[in-house]
Amino acid sequence: MKFPHLYEPLALGSAVFRNRIFASPQGYYNVAKDNLPSLDEVAYYERKARGGFASVCVGDCIVEDSTGTHYPFLLRMEDRSTLPGLAAIAHSVTRHGAVASAELSHAGMYARFVKYPDGSVYGADSMKNAAAATVLGGDLYGPVYIEHGKYGEVLEMPEEMILRIIDKFGKAAAWAKTAGFGMITVHGGHGWLLSQFMSPTVNTRTDRWGGSFENRMRLPLAVIESIRKNVGRDFPIEYRFSGSEASSVGYDIDYGVKFAQAIDGKVDIIHVSAGDHEDDSSIIVSHPSMFMEDGVNVKYAAAVKKLVKTPVATVGALTDPAHMEEIIASGRADIVELGRQSLADPDLPTKARTGRESDINKCMRCNTCLEHTGSIRSLLCATNPEIGYERDALIPRPIKTRKRVLVAGGGIAGMQAALTASERGHEVILCEKSDTLGGVLRCEAAVPFKRRLHEYLDRQAARIAASPIDLRLNTAVTPELASSLKPDVLFIALGAKPTFPPIPGINSANVVEATELYRDPSKAGANVALIGGGLVGIELAIYLKSLGKTVTVIEMLEHLVSDDAGMHLLAHDEAVNSPGITVLRGTSVTEITPTGVTCKNASGELKVSADTVVIAAGQTPLREESFALFDCAPEVYQIGDCATPRRIFTATSQAYTIARDI
Ligand SMILES: Cc1cc2nc3c(=O)[nH]c(=O)nc-3n(C[C@H](O)[C@H](O)[C@H](O)COP(=O)(O)O)c2cc1C
Repeated sequence: MKFPHLYEPLALGSAVFRNRIFASPQGYYNVAKDNLPSLDEVAYYERKARGGFASVCVGDCIVEDSTGTHYPFLLRMEDRSTLPGLAAIAHSVTRHGAVASAELSHAGMYARFVKYPDGSVYGADSMKNAAAATVLGGDLYGPVYIEHGKYGEVLEMPEEMILRIIDKFGKAAAWAKTAGFGMITVHGGHGWLLSQFMSPTVNTRTDRWGGSFENRMRLPLAVIESIRKNVGRDFPIEYRFSGSEASSVGYDIDYGVKFAQAIDGKVDIIHVSAGDHEDDSSIIVSHPSMFMEDGVNVKYAAAVKKLVKTPVATVGALTDPAHMEEIIASGRADIVELGRQSLADPDLPTKARTGRESDINKCMRCNTCLEHTGSIRSLLCATNPEIGYERDALIPRPIKTRKRVLVAGGGIAGMQAALTASERGHEVILCEKSDTLGGVLRCEAAVPFKRRLHEYLDRQAARIAASPIDLRLNTAVTPELASSLKPDVLFIALGAKPTFPPIPGINSANVVEATELYRDPSKAGANVALIGGGLVGIELAIYLKSLGKTVTVIEMLEHLVSDDAGMHLLAHDEAVNSPGITVLRGTSVTEITPTGVTCKNASGELKVSADTVVIAAGQTPLREESFALFDCAPEVYQIGDCATPRRIFTATSQAYTIARDI
């Protein structure tokens, strides 16, 4: 056994956990109109259990609709009609040998809002009109009265409401147990109700629910007691909280340890997360960004573990089984919980146990998953196209006729199409004009925070090498070649080329294109003017800054990275708003000169001096080259950037889905 600590079983009360790898609480936002669990939701959780996780947690089950929901599309534990759906989820997890846990949550003063992509807030009033949330509405309640809280006026929660919510936690736990769940996870972190009450800065009440440490503990402890009364001694309770709120206004790890000691022995697992959802710099600690190191929050669990006897779980930026083994072996935690990694590869536990670590698709923390839950209620993953469509993926698609499939282009889309078609049994020829698979994103190979992306490309290439795919590198697909190979199906995945805006001076010797600079950053001088504040430009600026260069990013629009994930954008903001990078928004470059660029914005003309001018102005699809291949096979599909340059998930999902259907 390569990872003996990771695969040591754990018995807690009536539950047996087959290993120490838990799927951390994740909500599922594509619930049916009436907020009942859908079959897609059942498959979403079942997929993780099938992959070998010891426990699978259903996130954000709301204990009281009228005061506690922070999003309109969450499971409501008060609703008696949830029972069959909850039972289906619990059973689908349990039948694979995992423990199903229900995370009970109440949002307190952050209840009933959701932010739409255009920035508008879907608050209490509009909620009343939402088809999915007809029973909601009313006032916001938190520990204390706040005249203008983040989402409006917050009222001080009266004593009878506190007692009622304590009772609702207990009833919700009983409901989950009835449905077949084997554990309760209490959401006591990330800024929601229980953390609001335990927070010394937020909870300044002067009655028995606030003021002193003892009084601030009263609600969390009463909730634990209420759940315990309802589920019995033998039923495991996991308490999730933020070990540190990791912000200038939140509490620190010393306070977190004190809290953990107060619940020690009263629960079965102390689950130490970090951060606060309501604080921009802190939410990227709860969901560590790609700019942070792996296991960045383990230190909080380790501090707690030293001083409690209850088993401790850690979470955040964990992807590597050897690292997880080391965390447990060194006594820093007893359990590791995986959030985004459980989406990138739900089979991680089984793969690590059976010596297939190199085949694990590692999460690159791009936050595509979080972006889509918030905006369009779907859970998608950039590099695992099955996510969001688990039910569909579970249905085998046997092929009727074995077809000869030609894939032109070995970038992200081309590799995925070739793999999926080949795995289904088609004969596949994959041609790539360069000498390497991976496409344009290979240019970021040396960027430390893109290490996982590079590993993903390597893994796809290794899967291709191990498959029967006929791989032809250094082979451009011309119409003549395509026709001569006589494919039944042709995937055109040619990619895109950099866009050069028609700026005077663009062909000067001091101009470098972004992908070229990613490949060889020594081409840039000490001062860089970077034209284009999209994803590529901003990340290049962050990379150049890490190499000691000073960068001025010039973006025409008023905002940066317009189409990128909200959470990832917050991480960008933090990296960008630091010495070494200056951002000029709403500014156009009018000329490139030997000493830099001339720009104009609302305040007039300005000059930015620079040794090097970088162009990061987007990608132009190779449409003409693609259209030239349209007649070369009976079935033709244009996929990825050569159709429309978008995001990684667009390319992988298109390639996978079409290849599953041919
Ligand atoms: C798509 C998504 C949904 C999540 N939903 C919940 C939730 O419902 N409740 C919760 O406590 N945490 C939720 N989280 C946070 C995760 O449980 C986890 O703490 C966080 O993602 C950090 O772990 P990771 O780096 O392994 O992703 C969610 C995270 C993601 C990515």
